[in-house]
Amino acid sequence: MRIKLLRKLTLRYGAHLPSNWYWKQISEMLLLTLVVTTIVVTLKLLLHGVPLRSTKSLVPSEDSKLLDLHNFKWIANNASICELNDNSAKLLVILVHTARDHFVERRAIRESWGSLTSYLDWSIRVIFLLGEEEPIPKPHQQQVKSDIETELVNNGDLVMGNFVDTYRNLSYKHIMGYKWVLEYCSHADFVWKVDDDMFIDTLTIIDWRATELERKKKTKLIDMYCPVIAGSKPQREDGLKWSISKDVWPFDTYPTYCSGVAYGISMDWIRKIYSVTSHAAQKILWIDDVYVTGILPHLVYKQTLELPVLKFTWPHFTFDYNPYNTTFCLENRDTKKDTRNFGVIVRLLRGTFLERESRCLWNRRWGFEVNSINSLIM
Ligand SMILES: *[C@@H]1O[C@H](CO)[C@@H](O)[C@H](O)[C@H]1NC(C)=O
Ligand SMILES: *[C@@H]1O[C@H](CO)[C@@H](O)[C@H](O)[C@H]1NC(C)=O
Ligand SMILES: *[C@@H]1O[C@H](CO)[C@@H](O)[C@H](O)[C@H]1NC(C)=O
Repeated sequence: MRIKLLRKLTLRYGAHLPSNWYWKQISEMLLLTLVVTTIVVTLKLLLHGVPLRSTKSLVPSEDSKLLDLHNFKWIANNASICELNDNSAKLLVILVHTARDHFVERRAIRESWGSLTSYLDWSIRVIFLLGEEEPIPKPHQQQVKSDIETELVNNGDLVMGNFVDTYRNLSYKHIMGYKWVLEYCSHADFVWKVDDDMFIDTLTIIDWRATELERKKKTKLIDMYCPVIAGSKPQREDGLKWSISKDVWPFDTYPTYCSGVAYGISMDWIRKIYSVTSHAAQKILWIDDVYVTGILPHLVYKQTLELPVLKFTWPHFTFDYNPYNTTFCLENRDTKKDTRNFGVIVRLLRGTFLERESRCLWNRRWGFEVNSINSLIM
């Protein structure tokens, strides 16, 4: 083969070749380089194809980018929060979307379901996601700012980015959570995203994951647990909370998506969804759960936005699921209006009773667990 190649080259460039001896030396060196390069490139390609559990390669090159924001910075961050003492433990990360002045909601979470730091062979970390105050803060926001600084020192579980913390900026917050987990927690085994008015039965969501892991290996469905919303239509009338103009979303329905109140997602899917954000930054839909769990997964599959309908997995995920009688805790709400929300995922009512109810639910849940463990032992 070498001789053939040499002959070809000689035929083509014959007139300009140096003397035979020099040519032989050069061509041998060239061939050797070619062979070595081919081997190296092939090896690199092979290795690259293998998904590494704790790869950090995806994010650092785009450190200062978040969707279409080019000067993104972490204002607050605890880079070591995901460090584990026990390397064999699995890691569950719970990202909580919270508003700056929701001190009560964050306290309620820390005192109840967020207080669990380990269960079975899992370690658990709860992180609160925040944005910045408005450029010209109103007087009460000054107070909020200094209270947040105190909270940060006392808890070390706030992650804050430099975008204005508003409702319309929730897609930034959502993707910031993915970015954070990829940069600082890439060894996580599973992630939940929840809103700060939700009660999450941490014990049960870990049980689900444990039983689902095996099954998931065999399917290509998107690896998320969530309340699925299919066939929902954009509100077109002006002035409604979720109004969207045809310029922003021209289609008559949204793609199937996960309600953002609470959902679980694998790191693999966080990586996949994050990887398409740079292509999807020109048209950001501010309804963050539609955008992040509906539109972006379709881009991962490189299919049109409407077809086919993606299937999310939600094995036993339902708001009706009610293994324990929580009536006692939720006596303050109008149960006639709101009977569906008792169970593993409970939406709390903001206000006077939120803290008390979440603590009550947690005590009952934890009591239930302790009782059933006791009954197993005895
Ligand atoms: C970061 O989180 C870890 C684990 O929760 C905690 O021990 C540490 O104090 C936090 N660091 C800061 C600076 O708050
Ligand atoms: C969203 O955040 C960006 C970056 O901080 C800011 O310029 C913009 O005004 C915010 N948008 C809204 C609707 O608050
Ligand atoms: C749940 O608990 C409440 C208060 O203790 C009680 O009145 C109710 O009958 C219970 N419901 C069920 C289905 O057990």
